[in-house]
Amino acid sequence: MFEVYEPMEDSFLLAEHVKKHSHGFVLDVGTGSGIQSIAASEKAKLVIGIDISRDAIKLARKNALKQNAKNIHFFESSLFDLFKKIQAKKQFKNNFLKKIKNKKIHGFLEKNILFDLIIFNPPYLPQDKGIEDKSIYGGIKGHETLERFLSEASEHLKENGKILIVFSSLTKKEKVDELLKDYCFEFRQIDEKKLFFETLLVYLIKKSGLLKILEKKGLKNIKKFARGHRGLLYKANLKKKKIVIKTKNPKSEAKGRIANEVKWIKILNKHNIGPKLLFSGMGYFAYEFIKGDFILDFIEKNKKQEGIKTIKNIFNQLYIMDKLKFDKEEMHHPLKHIIIDKKPVLIDFERCKITKKPKNITQFCQFLMSKNTKALLKQKGIKLNNDKIIKLAKTYKKEQTKENLNKILSILN
Ligand SMILES: C[S@@+](CC[C@H](N)C(=O)[O-])C[C@H]1O[C@@H](n2cnc3c(N)ncnc32)[C@H](O)[C@@H]1O
Repeated sequence: MFEVYEPMEDSFLLAEHVKKHSHGFVLDVGTGSGIQSIAASEKAKLVIGIDISRDAIKLARKNALKQNAKNIHFFESSLFDLFKKIQAKKQFKNNFLKKIKNKKIHGFLEKNILFDLIIFNPPYLPQDKGIEDKSIYGGIKGHETLERFLSEASEHLKENGKILIVFSSLTKKEKVDELLKDYCFEFRQIDEKKLFFETLLVYLIKKSGLLKILEKKGLKNIKKFARGHRGLLYKANLKKKKIVIKTKNPKSEAKGRIANEVKWIKILNKHNIGPKLLFSGMGYFAYEFIKGDFILDFIEKNKKQEGIKTIKNIFNQLYIMDKLKFDKEEMHHPLKHIIIDKKPVLIDFERCKITKKPKNITQFCQFLMSKNTKALLKQKGIKLNNDKIIKLAKTYKKEQTKENLNKILSILN
């Protein structure tokens, strides 16, 4: 049991902006006393206020009535769970809608539930041991409820819809900024209020251009999962398939890398090399998610013969690239550039270029001879003689033939 949140400085600060930005269909998440819903109702067509607390819903209804605020409906829901249930479960939807007499809200819930504005004054304090109060505590670190909100909000927001949040410096601005970027939002701070022991910040948030494009393609659950020097990777779901979207890391100075990579992957896919390209556009491309281990982890986890088979397969792919005169670069250090699924998949072709004498195979020989790789291979019972490899790699370098490749492969046993 917890108390309903009594409007405070954060509530009043947010309400000023809610009045400015409200229009169309508005959702007030964690409505508490209903203060934001009531502020939104001045200009909105329809406002829905939701809260995890039944007591909050009761109080919000009472307050809205008292203030004669129109077009507001309050429901009990943990974040977007109610809408998700309405959308996913037909029986639940029918039963729920039966109870709703008002035509406007009935019609809205019956169709796609998308909002022009979503408001959230989240509980943001880090959990204090032994005290249960969902109106102020946002999880162990304080930002967990906000993160869950951000991970789901876009699905309930119109393409050009906006989100308004207020939070305190106690939640850590850097963390909130990072979360917003992780979920592919654009945002700006529109207000700030210094209090005695904290600063309140108001953010106006919208979908980034990339997020809009990806959602139009039907992608769901879009979230950043890795950052390289040059690229940013997002994971997403496309129907039941897991996919990866690669875009440029905004911090990288390099130009045209994404377009370059798309160009090479298209050609390499015809030779069954590289991640399977699904679609691409200005500054991004999407490929099938590759589930597996990076090369050294794979060798470590598997038996000797599996390791040898994989290394040989990589050599054969690199030979095709050599024949195409594609130089992948960085094959002497491919630790995070080869993922072993059912077979090894080479990734990261952003620096790939055409050259007369590609170094894919010779660089990979270098990698096998490097201290860590050699030690791991030895541990697995794969002994490599550096002098022999160097000699064979030199021969191959002079004449890049299948025969010379086979000589290299023959020492792997
Ligand atoms: C800081 S209060 C804000 C109340 C009100 N909106 C305001 O501005 O004064 C946070 C509200 O979020 C609600 N809340 C906490 N976790 C929630 C969740 N998972 N889903 C919906 N509401 C939640 C709490 O019950 C509380 O009413």
